[in-house]
Amino acid sequence: MPTIKGFSKLSKEAKIEWIVSNYLENDPEAVDFLKSYWHEDKAVQKLHDEFIENTISNFYLPFGVAPNFLIDGKKYCVPMAIEESSVVAAAAKAANFWLERGGFHTEVIDMVKIGHVHFIWEGKDKSKLFQFFDTLKPLLFEGTNHITRNMQQRGGGILDIQLVDKTDKEPGYFQIMSKFDTCDSMGANFINSVLEEFSKILRDEIEKTDILEASERQVQVVMCILSNYTPECIVRAEVRAPVSLMNEGDSISGEEFVEKFCRAVRIAEIEPYRATTHNKGIMNGIDSIVIATGNDFRAVEACAHTYASRNGQYSSLTHAEVKDGMFRFWLDIPLALGTVGGLTNLHPMVKFAYKMLGNPGASELMRITAVVGLAQNFSALRSLVTSGIQKGHMKMHLLNILNQLEATEEEKVKIVDHFKDNVVSYSATVEIFCKIRGIEVPSAVTKSK
Ligand code: MEV
Repeated sequence: MPTIKGFSKLSKEAKIEWIVSNYLENDPEAVDFLKSYWHEDKAVQKLHDEFIENTISNFYLPFGVAPNFLIDGKKYCVPMAIEESSVVAAAAKAANFWLERGGFHTEVIDMVKIGHVHFIWEGKDKSKLFQFFDTLKPLLFEGTNHITRNMQQRGGGILDIQLVDKTDKEPGYFQIMSKFDTCDSMGANFINSVLEEFSKILRDEIEKTDILEASERQVQVVMCILSNYTPECIVRAEVRAPVSLMNEGDSISGEEFVEKFCRAVRIAEIEPYRATTHNKGIMNGIDSIVIATGNDFRAVEACAHTYASRNGQYSSLTHAEVKDGMFRFWLDIPLALGTVGGLTNLHPMVKFAYKMLGNPGASELMRITAVVGLAQNFSALRSLVTSGIQKGHMKMHLLNILNQLEATEEEKVKIVDHFKDNVVSYSATVEIFCKIRGIEVPSAVTKSK
């Protein structure tokens, strides 16, 4: 295939033409297909085109909602953007379960963000560098005033600046480690701008200092970047109820249910194989609201998993206990979210999501998001320790299988009705589908039984 230079400078149509002629055998339908996903309102499409480079079309994800979330006494209908069929249903189910038991309780423990100037200093006496840093610190605050002024007016800014010695890990390696309050913004651009200014001030000032020997008056700045690990930007979501109220209908008593549930959580606490899947379930909920509210789900994911490993072994993000007849289940998770800046004021669906949530600030969004993660985990464990996960999961997946088989609406109604009292599986679905259509069941399906 040919290499192309200046691809990003081509018009959208020319980009598509190049792709279709080089990778899609000039299929004219491919062009129509891509265009069929363009928004009919040109202004809206232009907005999407400009989010990233080389946009040729849009990629749809379902935008669902989970109503009835009672969080700290306030009701929310939560927006969720996700492709996995059972996630929204599971969140909604947990919301309803806890609605009747006092709802969810949350606490934002802190909202501190962190960034570093990573640099190398190869001088002899480290204590002299620390002495120099004491003179540098006020200059770092002062010299970044032009960047931090607005944030300070909003109540945020730089909280602290420290010099950190990392020479035991890498020769000559030091950090300027700074803590920030970025108010309602996620703060990545703000933090990175401040850090880059820090590095300029560091280089300028070290050249001038007479605290250090002339040969020591230089640093090599390796990089200036925020950390997506934000263990001090953390929120707790929690549910609690008397054990006697934790029964699953008549099928299992509250006592038996919480015993099984707490054991499942303990297994995730001690077994990384299980912890990974357990936390993945939590992130099903968290990512879907993070995406719907235009936040950076990669940052949230990376941070959550580092936090889950903070004690040296990957472990569960949720915990459960029974004390004095009360069941308690909670999630502690670092969530660096923003409700201003980034996509939040641009993407039309994101704007809609915020309106639906009552335009929360960052700390309220942290609370809601953590709750959805906890709810998701509650629903998954509730199924896992009682009926098993597949019953509900396959019921939700049934429509995907039927769409894959290109079933008509009438066929879908009949088949969904059939599975009200039968276990869904791929082969069982194909069989009933073929029976209704009066066609032969493919041998691959009969053999797989
Ligand atoms: C599936 O997306 C998520 C679960 O596997 C989570 C879990 O096992 O706890 C159901």
